Amino acid sequence: MSLDKNLIENLIDITSKAAISCYDYLGKENKIKADQAATDVMRDNLNKLNINGEVVIGEGELDQAPMLYIGEKLGNIKGQMIDIAVDPVEGTNFVAKNLPGAISVLAISEKGNLFKAPETYMNKIAYGQNIPKGVLDLDNSIEKNIKNFSDFKNKKFEDISVCLLNRDRHNEIIKKLKKLGVKIKLISDGDVTGALLVSNEKYNVDIFLGIGGGPEGVIVASALDAMNCNFQGRFIFETDSDRRRAKEMGIKDFDKKYEINEIIKGDSIFCATGITSGDLISGIKKEDNCFHTETLVTHKSQKLVNLVHKKFTIK
Ligand code: FBP
Repeated sequence: MSLDKNLIENLIDITSKAAISCYDYLGKENKIKADQAATDVMRDNLNKLNINGEVVIGEGELDQAPMLYIGEKLGNIKGQMIDIAVDPVEGTNFVAKNLPGAISVLAISEKGNLFKAPETYMNKIAYGQNIPKGVLDLDNSIEKNIKNFSDFKNKKFEDISVCLLNRDRHNEIIKKLKKLGVKIKLISDGDVTGALLVSNEKYNVDIFLGIGGGPEGVIVASALDAMNCNFQGRFIFETDSDRRRAKEMGIKDFDKKYEINEIIKGDSIFCATGITSGDLISGIKKEDNCFHTETLVTHKSQKLVNLVHKKFTIK
């Protein structure tokens, strides 16, 4: 069974409205308020849908998040049973500082097909189409991955581009990448977009890797899967409390490396609306009494990958 394609229009509206709700907070140095506004809008609108949904990736667990918490039921309960992953504002710092690359994102799958994950970090690797499994692997050394990629694509090291978050925890990796002579694209935030850059050669990113948010890893896996790209992730459970929460969510092996189709199975729909313009998606534009939005949409079963433009009249 696949997801009802009529849901796509509704979901585009929801990420668009969530993105629009951030407009007044652009550059206001208040990421909490922007996130709250987008979360409210996303939740209100998801609740109006004819779905029987459950949040599997959300704003946190019930004790941390009053809305869109993991396990929250959404929709009018009458419709299809689905899992929902939300990130109302991906790149809260970008909104606070009015910098490029903030998006409002959600992904859905049929019930039980989207990984339910606690709020921890994840070690990730993503790469584009037509590269068979095994060429790149989370367990390979950086040197081996670059060498394998170079051999497979017949590309010189200096022509290979690797994207990762600019974080101290990546200093060793960055040092190795520099030594190998590859092109490094360091991003300050927003690793959902970072990973999506492998989806098309026009973005000039061959490999995305490194440690970022686990929830972001699960969400982006759904879009990468629909785009025939590849992804592996391993959650990082540092504390006893991380491991306890993981266990409560059914995770038994804390060191497991997850392949893309262990994170997302079957059909999926993914929508990401630009809040501020980035490499991938244009941000909100206000013109006369309208907001214009751009949304990247994927629907796996329909092989749909599209940028959708919408206009919303300001009431
Ligand atoms: P927020 O939008 O929640 O602030 O997340 C931004 C982000 O850069 C994610 O894209 C990334 O996965 C995560 O933060 C990395 O976390 P950290 O900033 O702790 O390294």
